[in-house]
Amino acid sequence: MYWFFGWALCYTTRMSSSLLITPSILSADLAHLQTEVDSIASAADWLQVDVMDGHFVPNLSFGAPVLRCLQTSVPLDVHLMVENPEDRIEEFLRLQVKHITFHAEAVVDTDARKALLQAIHDGDATAGIAVKPATSLEVIEDVVSEVDLVLIMSVEPGFGGQAFLPDVLTKVQMLRARFPDLMIQMDGGINAKTAKMCVQSGANNLVAGSYIFGAEDRLAAISSLRDV
Ligand code: DX5
Repeated sequence: MYWFFGWALCYTTRMSSSLLITPSILSADLAHLQTEVDSIASAADWLQVDVMDGHFVPNLSFGAPVLRCLQTSVPLDVHLMVENPEDRIEEFLRLQVKHITFHAEAVVDTDARKALLQAIHDGDATAGIAVKPATSLEVIEDVVSEVDLVLIMSVEPGFGGQAFLPDVLTKVQMLRARFPDLMIQMDGGINAKTAKMCVQSGANNLVAGSYIFGAEDRLAAISSLRDV
């Protein structure tokens, strides 16, 4: 029994040392996006761009034209909350985004998923697949060993500032137990309290929007997530 606690302790230590913090610009003041991004760039590992089409999710956000106006060295992580993501990736790859994640619920056919993963990789970006809170991990069994990242949504996608759904932590634990080296990203309702639960469950990339951009001291908010 004691070996397990030893493993859990060193595992948590190792995971938190390789923890990535990914601020989401969905919660930034979009009228001053460059200034907003500059305010957190020194502390951000990645920058998440929540692309919403008003069909796959009820909200409509932004797309490539906005990114063309943004100057940043922080690697861009595009989270496609859209129908037909295969129609969207080229414009983001041309902008040299580093990471593109699409939703399993938007691409259900295995061959289509594999073709999309290949197209993202051919564009020199890492490829992720995302699952909504109610979606089981079985749904991604066909490609889970080929993706660079799995995004476990801890809110229903579409809006920032929602409450964290702790039931999804079971999915994170199951995924981590099977894939010790997989990047597991979590997104939705992440703050210092929920971040601790996420890391303890095995997540190693945390997306936060309102917790960071709503903070008085944004860099301190990012540090508080890194130090869980
Ligand atoms: C939901 C979005 C949000 C956003 C982060 O569709 O993906 O999760 O990135 O929002 P907060 O951190 O404010 O919950």
